[in-house]
Amino acid sequence: MKPSEPQCGISENDLRNWPLSKLRELHFEMGKQCNVRCIMCYQTDFSPATKMAEVMWKEKLLPAYEAAETLTMSGGEPTIMPACRELLRTVMKDYTHLKLNMVTNGVQLRGVFEEAFLKQGNVLNISLNAIDPQLYAKIVQFGRQSEVIANIKRLIARRDESGSTLKLRISTVIINDTVHEMADFVQWAADNGLDEALLYQDYLQGVTRYDSVTVQKFIADAYAAADRNPNLKMLHLDDWDWYYARLHGLDPVRLRPVFQRPKEPCGVALDSMIVSHDGAVKPCCKSWYLYGNLMQSSLLEVWQSDAAYRFRRRMLGLDFRDCLGACDLNANPINPRIANARKAYWVIKRDPKEAIKKAKRRLGFDTAQIDSHPQQPQSRVDVQSTLSRDDLDTN
Ligand SMILES: C[S@@+](CC[C@H](N)C(=O)[O-])C[C@H]1O[C@@H](n2cnc3c(N)ncnc32)[C@H](O)[C@@H]1O
Ligand code: SF4
Repeated sequence: MKPSEPQCGISENDLRNWPLSKLRELHFEMGKQCNVRCIMCYQTDFSPATKMAEVMWKEKLLPAYEAAETLTMSGGEPTIMPACRELLRTVMKDYTHLKLNMVTNGVQLRGVFEEAFLKQGNVLNISLNAIDPQLYAKIVQFGRQSEVIANIKRLIARRDESGSTLKLRISTVIINDTVHEMADFVQWAADNGLDEALLYQDYLQGVTRYDSVTVQKFIADAYAAADRNPNLKMLHLDDWDWYYARLHGLDPVRLRPVFQRPKEPCGVALDSMIVSHDGAVKPCCKSWYLYGNLMQSSLLEVWQSDAAYRFRRRMLGLDFRDCLGACDLNANPINPRIANARKAYWVIKRDPKEAIKKAKRRLGFDTAQIDSHPQQPQSRVDVQSTLSRDDLDTN
C-alpha cells in the first residue's frame, strides 16, 4: 500500500532522502569510562573497554561535524577519555563553527577542555553534586571536590577576562542525601558566579528519608534562594516541586502555569542524533528508538535508514510512540505502560545483558560505588584500571 503524503509540507521523497545538511545537533557518548563513582549513577559499566572506535569519530562522522551547529559530549566522564581530548583539538582547528556543550564531573576540567570551552563553548555542565565537603565525599567516591571548585573558579575568572560567551552551570541529583542541601546548592551557585543551577530528578529512586512537610520546606528554601539571586538561571526546581507534589498527592509549593504541551512534531527527529560508544545512533537521549549502527553502516546510510525514515514519518503525524512521555517536546505521549514496554523491547533487543544489569540497578540490588554493597562487590582492579588514566593527567 502506498503511504500517504507526509504532512508539514515535506514530500515523501524528501523524507526518504532526508539530507545530512539538516543536522543541527550532534551528541556523543564516547565511552562509559569514569574516574569516580557517584552513589546515584545509573551506569552499570565504567570500563575503558567501552570506548568509541576511532574509525567512527575520526572518519565516518566527519560530514556530521561539517553539517552540525552544536556538538555535545557526555559519558562516562569525557575529560578522562583521550578520544574526547583529541576530538576537541580537531574541532578547535577544523570545525570552529561548532558550539560545544559538555556534562562533566569537573575533577579533570583543565587543559584542552578549558581552552576549547573558552573558545567555542555554549553550556558547560559541571556535576558538582554536593556543597558540603563530607557529603561530596560520600556521593562522589574517589572525587576531589577542592579541585572541582578550583577548576570552576579558574574557568569563571578566565571566561570573564576573555569575554568568552561560555555559560557555566552546576548540577546535582535530588536524592535522599542531597535534598536537604538544595537551597545551599542554589546559593553557592549564585555566590560563585555560575550562570545556571540545575536539579536533576533521580532516574532510579525517589526521596523517602524525610516526611513531605520537611521536603516541601527544603523546596521552599530553594525557591527563596533562587528569588534572592535573580541573575542565576534556575533549572528544574519547579519541575521537581511539581513531580514531588504529584507523587504525594499534594499541592506544589509554588503553583506554576499549567504545562502546555507543544502541538507540533518534535524537531529533534529532523535535526539531531546521538551516537553511543558502540556505534548505535538514536534521535536523542529521550528516545530508545534506533536509527542504525555506525559500526555496520555509513553515516548517510544510518541518517537515511528505513528506521530513521519511519521515525520521522511517524513524528510528522504526531505519533510519539518511541519517546519518553516526560519529555517537554513530546506533543502526544502514549500510555506510560505501553511506552515502558516499547522501551524494554528496544533495550533488550540492543543488549540483553545490559538490560538485566540496568533492571538490577533500578531495583536497588547494586550501586555504582565500590564495596558499598557487600553482597555484590565489584572488582577493585577494574576501578584502578580506569583511575590510572586519571592519574596520568594528560590534558
Ligand atoms: C552519567 S553522567 C555523565 C557525565 C559526567 N560523568 C558527569 O557526572 O557529569 C551525566 C549526568 O547524569 C547525572 N546523573 C547521575 N546519576 C543520575 C541519576 N540516577 N538520575 C539522574 N541523573 C543522574 C550526573 O550527575 C550527570 O550530571
Ligand atoms: S555520574 Fe558520577 S559515576 Fe556516573 S559517569 Fe558521571 S561522574 Fe561518573
